[in-house]
Amino acid sequence: MEKRKDRRKVIVIHGPNLNMLGKREPEIYGKETLDEINVKLEKLAEKLDIDIETFQSNYEGKIIEKIQKTSGICRGLIINPAALTHTSIAIRDALLLLDIPIIEIHLSNIYKREAFRRKSMIADVVTAQISGFGVQGYIMALEAIAKM
Ligand code: DQA
Repeated sequence: MEKRKDRRKVIVIHGPNLNMLGKREPEIYGKETLDEINVKLEKLAEKLDIDIETFQSNYEGKIIEKIQKTSGICRGLIINPAALTHTSIAIRDALLLLDIPIIEIHLSNIYKREAFRRKSMIADVVTAQISGFGVQGYIMALEAIAKM
């Protein structure tokens, strides 16, 4: 019997200041803009035959609302909460509502940086964390979710 395809989307959430990628501390976060990263992900999703939606917000509440709305329509979530990684119990609580693979991603290796970045409020509630591979981390996350 043919396997039924899961048409639910993979959602990629980018947190605060990631809209400034390209200009923002390129020696840490690289030279690629967020639009360029999203286009890369969209092309890969097409190749993998999966639907994808990308979303960026500088507001914690908007990110929480987006996570809440993914329930039922989302087959996997890739999230870089940016600075909110280190502070947001509210994002952690929202992620706990979901019953799908969740990949936490960071462009930089947060464990090699300032002490306040070494703590992630969500690391123990996500499926996996990718930290320090730059843009390649997003690619790895999408490929992993496609196989799950
Ligand atoms: C980041 C790391 C965070 O500490 C920082 O606040 C960011 C980006 C990363 O992708 O490396 O904005 O999540």
